[in-house]
Amino acid sequence: RRNRKSDWSRRLVKENQISVNDLILPIFVTDSDNKTAITAMPGVNRIPMNEVVGIVQEAKELGLPAIALFPETNNSLKDENGSEALNEENIVCRATRLIKDNIKDIGIITDVALDPYTSHGHDGIIKNNEILNDETLSILCKQAIIQTKAGSDIIAPSDMMDGRVQAIRKALDKNDYKNTQIMSYAAKYASCFFGPFRNAIGSDANLSSKSKKSYQMDFANSDEALREVSLDISEGADMVMVKPGMPYLDIIKSIKENFKIPVFAYQVSGEYSLIKNAIDKKIISEDSIIETLTGFKRAGASAIVTYFADKIAKSLK
Ligand code: PBG
Repeated sequence: RRNRKSDWSRRLVKENQISVNDLILPIFVTDSDNKTAITAMPGVNRIPMNEVVGIVQEAKELGLPAIALFPETNNSLKDENGSEALNEENIVCRATRLIKDNIKDIGIITDVALDPYTSHGHDGIIKNNEILNDETLSILCKQAIIQTKAGSDIIAPSDMMDGRVQAIRKALDKNDYKNTQIMSYAAKYASCFFGPFRNAIGSDANLSSKSKKSYQMDFANSDEALREVSLDISEGADMVMVKPGMPYLDIIKSIKENFKIPVFAYQVSGEYSLIKNAIDKKIISEDSIIETLTGFKRAGASAIVTYFADKIAKSLK
């Protein structure tokens, strides 16, 4: 126990340390005039358009390298094909333009997938009960282009269709967006832990008991995650994401070891809720947050998307 006997010595032998550079803040944006609480995620709100710049400015001052935007789309704008995804005036495009016009030097990450916009809550379009792959791809490419045009720096396809990274890369290059990065949600599992997120963006009621298992991965599998990552890298992904986070540390580690590519962890909504509720009820202490984040670093994550990002950035200061 000699190395562990005093604080200075423990600091000296510490192998991993979370810094503000490791954190990405997800932000829910709404068209409502006021911010609204997300019941299942205590402390997280949907932010109205006129407060977005303020929130991102604060994130920048805290030193966070990037934020990720997610829209709560009005149900009246949703349809079978998720057409609102291609509206240049949709919430994500407007918020992206506002941020880009007002704040320099913070990365803007936008999600490419149709679930915030479809009346059925799925990430792709449907025919005869099947989520159509290639038909969905052409919409995702257009979605990526309009998001990039609005000012997105990193396109993050979270839909889990096959071949979307290559299709999006080609579409970006063709439109002269050669510098736009792609962060692929390469290993995204069909997970219960997305529940509160679906409530936050208002897709939960529409999705109801339908499952995403025909495109998101089976949580029993790890070889398959490596195949998905390998495909996404060959298709042009600049970085890959594993999602959810805590139950999948083994996947992060094995991707890092096998591919030496930046891997990101997403500590998703359900994980946030578990930890936050336990802290609020004084079941565990607040130090549990940094413990979970350090676990991601130890496993090999370059950075972590977490709803705790602003709070932890403050405490690191
Ligand atoms: C949408 C998307 C989801 C999340 C991020 N992008 C939900 C889903 O696939 O159903 C989940 C994030 C979270 O739970 O915090 N494709």
